Amino acid sequence: MFTRFRRKRINPVLRNLLQETHLTVNDFIYPLFIRSGEGVKNEVDSMPGVFQMSIDEAIKECETLKSLGIYSILLFGIPDIKDSVGSDAMCEHGIIASSIRAIKEAHPDMFVVTDLCFCEYTDHGHCGVLDPVLETVDNDITLGNLAKQALVHAKAGADMIAPSGMMDGMITAIREGLDSGGFSHIPIMSYSTKFSSAYYGPFRDVAESSPSFGDRRSYQMNPANRREAILESLADETEGADILMVKPALAYLDIVRDIKENSSLPLAIYNVSGEYSMLKMAAKAGVIDYEKVMMETMIGFKRAGADIIISYHAKEVAELLNK
Ligand code: PBG
Ligand code: ZN
Repeated sequence: MFTRFRRKRINPVLRNLLQETHLTVNDFIYPLFIRSGEGVKNEVDSMPGVFQMSIDEAIKECETLKSLGIYSILLFGIPDIKDSVGSDAMCEHGIIASSIRAIKEAHPDMFVVTDLCFCEYTDHGHCGVLDPVLETVDNDITLGNLAKQALVHAKAGADMIAPSGMMDGMITAIREGLDSGGFSHIPIMSYSTKFSSAYYGPFRDVAESSPSFGDRRSYQMNPANRREAILESLADETEGADILMVKPALAYLDIVRDIKENSSLPLAIYNVSGEYSMLKMAAKAGVIDYEKVMMETMIGFKRAGADIIISYHAKEVAELLNK
C-alpha cells in the first residue's frame, strides 16, 4: 500500500493546512423583516431567533451585526396596508423605502440589499399584478412595477437590488429603470434560479406573504428540472445580472455546482426558512449537535460553489467563527 489518505489526517495542523474550503463572516448576508411601529420585536414561532422588527429595533440589530463582523443585510418589508398591485412597495414613504433610509442614515457602512418582489405587499399574496383570465401573475405589467420599485429602493439608498419574483425579463426591466434614473452603479443580485419550494413555509409566516389562492408554480421553477435551472440563470446573466442565486440551497446543491460551472458570475445561495427551522427544531428536540450541523451545512454550501450565503444562521455562524 503506497497511498494512505490517513497520513494527512492525523496531525490537526496538517489537516488545517490541507483544508480546501473556508468560511468567513464576509460570506454572509443576514435577512431582516421590518414592520411599522416602535419597539416592536416579535419572534416568529416557526423560526426561533428570527423576528419581525420595527425600524428602531432594526437599527439596534445592525449594531449587533456589525459587532459580529456582518456588514450586509437583506431587507424585507411588511406593510400595514396591502392592495391588488402592492402599492406600498412603490411608495417613497412605504415601509421598505422608510426602512432603507433610516438604516442607511444610522449605519452608512452597512451594505443594504433589498428583496424586490410584491408578494408581501399584495392582498392576494402573489408576486405581481394578476392576470384575471390566466389566474396567474401578469408578467409584463409586473415588469414595469418592478422597475418602479427598484427606483424607490435606489432613491432611498439601497446598495444592491435583489429581485425574487421569477418574472421573465425582470433583469432587463430593472436595469433599464435603474440606469435611466441615474443608478447605473447599483448592482443587481438576481434570484435567478428559484424553485417553487415547500421550504419557504416558515418565511411566509414571518413575511406574511402566503398566496391567498393557488401556489407559485406558474412562475417559480419545477424542482425536478436541472437543464432549465441552468438556462434560467444564464438568461439573467445575459440580461445583465451582476450576481446569480440558487434558492433554496440544501436540496439543490447539484444545481449550485451546475451553475458555477456554467457561469463565471459570482453565485449566492439562499439557505431558506424551512432549512433553518429544521435545524432549530431538531436542536430543540435534542437530536442533533446544532452548532456542528450548522457549520457542516455552511461549508457544504461553499464547497458546492457558493460565494455568498444568505442565511438566518449568519449571526450564530459569525459568533463561532469569531471565537
Ligand atoms: C419573495 C421571497 C420568498 C423568499 C424570499 N423572497 C418567498 C416566496 O417566494 O414565497 C423565501 C425565503 C425563505 O424561505 O427564507 N418572493
Ligand atoms: Zn414574491
